[in-house]
Formats: sequence, structure tokens, C-alpha cells
Amino acid sequence: MIIDKNKLPIHIGFIMDGNGRWASKKGLPRTAGHAEGAQTFRKIARYCKKIGIKYITFYAFSTENWKRPADEVDTIMKLFWQYLEEAKDFVKDNTRLIFLGDKSRFEDKMREKMISLEKASENFDEMTVAIAMNYGGRDDIVHSVKEIARMVKEGYVSPSDIDEELVESLLYTGNMPDADLIIRPGGEKRISNFLIWQSSYAELYFTDVLWPDFSPKELDKALEDYALRGRRFGGVV
Ligand code: FPP
Repeated sequence: MIIDKNKLPIHIGFIMDGNGRWASKKGLPRTAGHAEGAQTFRKIARYCKKIGIKYITFYAFSTENWKRPADEVDTIMKLFWQYLEEAKDFVKDNTRLIFLGDKSRFEDKMREKMISLEKASENFDEMTVAIAMNYGGRDDIVHSVKEIARMVKEGYVSPSDIDEELVESLLYTGNMPDADLIIRPGGEKRISNFLIWQSSYAELYFTDVLWPDFSPKELDKALEDYALRGRRFGGVV
């Protein structure tokens, strides 16, 4: 990769789409696509660390994904669990791990593991890997608003103190910076309720490559494209 370090995004969000189609094309069950997609997740996370990306967020399971067939949901949860079991290695790697979304929907064992990995890695600062599980962008905002309503009710925040900074600090992403680049493989050109607040000024990159085939080389293409974009944040250059 020959991109100027200063032109790399600080925070990249990945929408891991196309697992099912990848499997169907090969005559495999959809679940095989998710297993391959989980491998791509590992490869891309490692590569991002190697090239010095500070924050990466992966959309692994949305608040709407529970509607999928039970065996598919089950497979995704198993793959996620396998990852949680091996995530100690990431933690040793000075990598902070956080999970975005409502954890109350998961089994106790899963939720406890997520919380303990977050705690064990909270002071690591080389890179942050965020995994959005049972996550929805609108739900994220509602969650923040509910916290604020509670603070107002308890009397330590007044309505006139509510500003963007406060809403943002109570999102699942907490003090992570906004997303600079959102990458969606799989051919669809939409955000699908992913990081909607945090991607207000993000550059969007879409590719037809299916997530299981998304490689460091494909990521380089996205980064080269990103490096050429003129970001103005509503101002003029
Ligand atoms: C979208 O592709 C993908 C998902 C809903 C699941 C993604 C989950 C993983 C990659 C594995 C578990 C996660 C971790 C972090 C280990 P799709 O099934 O909608 O694809 P399609 O559009 O081709 O049907």
C-alpha cells in the first residue's frame, strides 16, 4: 500500500454484506457464507492494524437480523461466540474491543463475555475494534435520548444543556470519533441503519465484491479512492 499516512481514514465502518450470495453461487448453504465472512472479518481487522487504522467498526448483526431463519441466526451467534473465545489474543495485542448495540437480548454467557472483554481491553489504545451486534442506528439514538431523559428527570442535566456533544457521548460508540469512511461490499448502495449519526460526514464506498471475497487488496482500492476525495464538512476548501 502506497498511500500517504495522513490521507488514511481514522475510523472505517464495514457493512459485511453478500455472505449469503457468495455461498449460493458456490452451491453452499448460506451459513457457509457467514463462516467465510467471519474469516474475512479477521483478515481485514489484522490488515487495518498493520497499516495503522485506529478505529474499525463491523456491522455483524442488526436489530432486524433476528427475523432471519433460526439456523442462520444460530450460526451467526456461534461464529460470534468463537470469535469472543479467541479475542483474548486481540486484547493482548493492545487492541481495545467494544460491542455496539443492545446487549440485553443475548444469553447471559454471551453478554458476560462481551462485557468482560470490554473491561479487559478498556485501556488499550493502539487500535479499537467495534463490533455492532444487535445494533441499529436509530436504536443507538433512542438509547442516547433515554439516558438524557433519565439525567433530566434526576435533575443533573437541564434541557438547555442538551447539545450534539451530549447526545453523541451517550451513543454506543461513546467517545469514538465519527466514521470517516463507510465501506459496503455486496453491490447494494445503502447504509441500512448502520452508524447513522456517526456517518453524517463519512465518505461512502460501494463495491460489487461480496464480503467473503473482500481482501486487503480491495481495501487498498477503497483507501486509494478515499485519499482522492476532498472532504469539506459543509465548508469550502
Ligand atoms: C450480511 O450478509 C451478513 C450478516 C447479516 C452476518 C455477518 C456475520 C458474520 C460475518 C459472522 C459473525 C461475526 C463476527 C464478528 C465473527 P447477507 O447474509 O445479508 O448476504 P446476502 O445479501 O448475500 O444474503
